[in-house]
Amino acid sequence: MRMGQRKRIEIGKATDLHFGSGHGPRLPKKPEQKKDGSPSPHLTGPLPVLGALHEGRHVPGQEGVNQHPTMRKATADDVARGVKRVAPHRAPGYLMESGLSGHATKIALGVAVAAVVAIAVAGCWWFLWRSVSFTVNDQEVSARVGSRLVDVIKAGDYYGAKAGRLLSINGNVIDETGGTRFTLTIDGEEVDPAGEDRIDVPEGAKVGVTDGTDVTEDHTEETVEALPGVEMERGGAIQYVSQWGKAGTKVVWTGKASGETLDHEMLEQPVNMVIAGRNLSPSASNGKKYVALTFDDGPSSYTPKILDILKEKGAKATFFNLGAQEEAYPAYAKRVVDEGHELASHTNKHQYLPKLDRDSLRAEISSAAESLKKATGEDVQMIRAPYGAFDVNSWVRSADLISCNVLWNIDTRDWERPGAQAITDAVLNGAYNGAIVLMHDGGGNREQDVEALPAIIDGLRAAGFEPVTVRELMKLDGNIPEDVVSGTVKQPEGTTAPAEVQ
Ligand code: NI
Repeated sequence: MRMGQRKRIEIGKATDLHFGSGHGPRLPKKPEQKKDGSPSPHLTGPLPVLGALHEGRHVPGQEGVNQHPTMRKATADDVARGVKRVAPHRAPGYLMESGLSGHATKIALGVAVAAVVAIAVAGCWWFLWRSVSFTVNDQEVSARVGSRLVDVIKAGDYYGAKAGRLLSINGNVIDETGGTRFTLTIDGEEVDPAGEDRIDVPEGAKVGVTDGTDVTEDHTEETVEALPGVEMERGGAIQYVSQWGKAGTKVVWTGKASGETLDHEMLEQPVNMVIAGRNLSPSASNGKKYVALTFDDGPSSYTPKILDILKEKGAKATFFNLGAQEEAYPAYAKRVVDEGHELASHTNKHQYLPKLDRDSLRAEISSAAESLKKATGEDVQMIRAPYGAFDVNSWVRSADLISCNVLWNIDTRDWERPGAQAITDAVLNGAYNGAIVLMHDGGGNREQDVEALPAIIDGLRAAGFEPVTVRELMKLDGNIPEDVVSGTVKQPEGTTAPAEVQ
């Protein structure tokens, strides 16, 4: 039985030659017909040989077949027909034996392939689904290979890490947890948050999870004009622009989430506007000193009386008239000018100017100038703001309309009606070279001013002072710009009003 199997395997090897031909088992040829119609006798030859092989028997005279399965020696009949070597004829039994053997091989091969595939699949399965270990903040963690590290960290509730904040471009908190969720390190190396999501669980690594970081909102950027600032000197009675502002350029950021703006970079520094505040010191030649007597809130019915006294004494003064009063007393402003005094503006309706918006403030100044022009034909640029109130933003809004704002050095407090003597004493006791004295010719009962004025002038002169106009006092000081003195200030080309101070 074992011998028979071995022999069949040997035959199988012979059929392997057929497999090797690449055409599979060959079909048996049709038996050749002799010319007389009977089958050729040699065709029966191979059959007993094969049968004997099947049974493991040896057939005498058929050695050639056994020695070489594909060829047999030519029979006498063959020789007679001139055939020397004849290819063996395959009987159906031969073919059947050969097919059975190939089938077994196929099964074996199939089993082998299936086994290999199974092993490969199992390997892949293991490779794809195996668990890897690492530590997070020194805690042992394991997760399926290839899973995302961030998912593991999320599942671990971020290991106590506190999220960062979202900040505006100016550093204000927009969202308490709008920054990065956590900070990640792998074996001590910090991981860029941008690539965090793509990191697989790192086998054997030391992962660190700590608090997230603050993130600043996105912003847009544009280059804009940088308005000048404004600087104001304090304490002087004569205020004027000593330096006009010039715009620069700057890069401004606007926060996309907050809408806040931030001056990011100054490309060209602006030049600030500077408001000078100076007290006057006229040069005292021949021991002579000078003061300026000033009268506010007129014209009124008291104005002619004051003008009469000044005329009588041959003294000069300055009148800060209200535009609204000019309608009622147009002749008095004209007389002020005609008699050599200085006419200036106390604005139109005696409002507190810092509270006015830009347009209202400018109208308050311009309308008064128009009234004075109408009454006298003079262009008046010098003002005294009501209550002396002319703040930084008043300058920002209207510097181009005025030459100067005139305050005072000596307040007679005549509006309190302290008595003519008190008013006189206030002037004479306070007088110094270059002082500007505040009195009133309108806005109420000014009888005490009228009563005090002759004694004031006489007393000043007795003390070596000459009463002059403010313009004259500025001229005598010698340090005030000529256009400010003459009231012909014009804002230079290419200069810019400052930004309002908040
Ligand atoms: Ni006033």
